[in-house]
Amino acid sequence: MLGRWLFITMGSVWFLASSAVGGELTFTKDVAPILYNHCTSCHRPNEVGPFNLITYADAKRRGRQLVEVTTRRVMPPWKPVKGHGQFLYDRSLSEEQIAIIQKWYEAGMPEGDAKDLPPLPKFTDGWHLGPPGLILKVEKPFRIPAEGDDLYVHFVLPTGLTKDQPFRAVQVLPSNKRVAHHAVPMLDVHKGKAYELARKDGYYIRFDPGFLPRGFLPGYAPGMMTHELPEDQPGVLPQGMDVVLQMHYHPTGKEEWDQPQIGIYFADKPPKRNPSVILLANNEIDIPPGERHYKRTDQFQLPVDYEIRSIFAHMHMIGKQVRVWAELPDKTKRSLLYIDDWDYRWQDTYVYAKPLVLPRGTIIKAEFIWDNSENHPRNPYSPPRRIRWGERSTDEMSGIIIGGMTVKPNDEGWHWLAVLGHYFDIERKANAAKSKWKDN
Ligand code: HEC
Repeated sequence: MLGRWLFITMGSVWFLASSAVGGELTFTKDVAPILYNHCTSCHRPNEVGPFNLITYADAKRRGRQLVEVTTRRVMPPWKPVKGHGQFLYDRSLSEEQIAIIQKWYEAGMPEGDAKDLPPLPKFTDGWHLGPPGLILKVEKPFRIPAEGDDLYVHFVLPTGLTKDQPFRAVQVLPSNKRVAHHAVPMLDVHKGKAYELARKDGYYIRFDPGFLPRGFLPGYAPGMMTHELPEDQPGVLPQGMDVVLQMHYHPTGKEEWDQPQIGIYFADKPPKRNPSVILLANNEIDIPPGERHYKRTDQFQLPVDYEIRSIFAHMHMIGKQVRVWAELPDKTKRSLLYIDDWDYRWQDTYVYAKPLVLPRGTIIKAEFIWDNSENHPRNPYSPPRRIRWGERSTDEMSGIIIGGMTVKPNDEGWHWLAVLGHYFDIERKANAAKSKWKDN
């Protein structure tokens, strides 16, 4: 009697469990759609992923690893913690998708019916949105040695534009995606200064660009698609300002060459409001070896009403966490970004799903945490060494760039003045700190 009852109960539990996930999970029906939408943008030939994740054999060979990296949320790389800002183009998997991969693995990785297999998404290896209106190309291929530190190189690209040019999209296209870890195109506010500096070194500037970037164009990070800007809010490439393309290269173990290009897609109409940025940073960085929780902060008070559209965070190898939030005049707090497991290899400009308007008087705060102990998996030194502010990837930096615009067009000047003032403040404090280091 008891046996029969148990049998029935177990039977119905089994039935419930299997019906909840829709029968047997197979590669073709359940797993391939997840890989195609979330993994193959990088895990295909000539992309950054170290192997392909396209066929059943690809997935089966790495079954256990797929479970590991997805449950630990290492892959797909997506750094912002949920609930701290809602972003477009979120690459992360849902709990349900993670469970599907796990259950499929536990069921022995069945392949399933070939006719269930969805078509492989169409990827374009070149220009994502067709031929751009203007292509800026670095004049010569740049050599990345097989071994050594990461390289930060600035290529200066005059645009030749004779009037301000609105654009709807920008794509940075490295010629070698195995070695290009990310790209940040900037605009030189001192027309021609970066160009002069670059001529001294040949055709590029190493490390510190030595100029104040006026603005930023959308950059490149592995697996990133090219996004069109909203029609009423295109970007603007000001005439006479050079584009300075910062490339971050990560040696691959063999000599590599890269000759990146920037494609600009023009827009028909100028923006209703000009874009402007907010910069937050703290360069008073001097981290003793072994220090597990080294903290630096910065804050900026909005002089005028401001609308936030995007956020970009920057630290180097021993970064651990970064948090950005806004404290409104009515004392409410809004979390803008939280990354609890910093990885300098995955830096992206995160675009908010909805613009966020913050009233004048709001204080935007940033907190950066570093871990200079043996515990940090990417600590460049073993045993750990004292690490200070600097441009090399083995030095440290901090930075937040918020993209957006003032709510009233007339406020742009005030906003820009405050941003400049804040920038000089950051520099002044850093210089004071550096002079103290020399005394040590
Ligand atoms: C944006 C590009 C990108 C996407 C999207 C991506 N990967 Fe990766 N993946 C990489 C790179 C690059 C590496 C090499 C390790 C590294 O640099 O972190 C990697 C490494 C891995 C590894 C090896 C991990 C290790 O510890 O050696 C696995 C397994 C993996 N990815 C699975 C996946 C799966 C599964 C997905 C989708 C759910 C995915 N990846 C999506 C870029 C990507």
